[in-house]
Amino acid sequence: MSTITNGISMLIVSILVLFLFVMIVLGFMLGFSHPLPWLLIGIILIIPFIHNKIVAKRFLQWNDSYSVGLDSIDDDHKKLLGMINQLQTASHYTTDDKMIEHILDELIDYTKYHFSREEKIMQDSGYPGIEEHMKLHKEMIHQVTGFIDGYRLHKTSTIDEVTQFLKSWLINHINGSDKEYMPYLKNISNS
Ligand SMILES: [Fe+2]
Ligand SMILES: [Fe+2]
Repeated sequence: MSTITNGISMLIVSILVLFLFVMIVLGFMLGFSHPLPWLLIGIILIIPFIHNKIVAKRFLQWNDSYSVGLDSIDDDHKKLLGMINQLQTASHYTTDDKMIEHILDELIDYTKYHFSREEKIMQDSGYPGIEEHMKLHKEMIHQVTGFIDGYRLHKTSTIDEVTQFLKSWLINHINGSDKEYMPYLKNISNS
């Protein structure tokens, strides 16, 4: 969500809370035994809970079903998930472009590092789909670099679009293509 959209949603929530407060005061004029103000107080109390639930859904969470069965690769995937969550937090709360660019640079660097580690493992394990898989990695770097340049230089993509792309690509890739080399990892030790 962009900073402007965040600002608008915060304004809407503030207006809603203010409106509920006024309704509560007016409700108590009907008498303390009237259920309306108490009901409205209940609604105000659950707003932060609902808000936290909505925000939490934007973040990626590691799930054991994502495991490819090799600790080094799982650790890389967990780290990438964490970095994308960091980007999500930064894009949600900060207007500091430098900080977002720093996270993007680190994310790209670590993704490249992870891809080369994964490709070496696929090679060592004799995985026959390595060429196809390497093409997907290359494509991902190309796509994400395009998005980042669009955000950084041409302002044609937003940081939210970059984050959404990274989130869906990573989860789909871990759960799809990365799972395909799993049966060939039998002879590779966990390191
Ligand atoms: Fe991969
Ligand atoms: Fe991977």
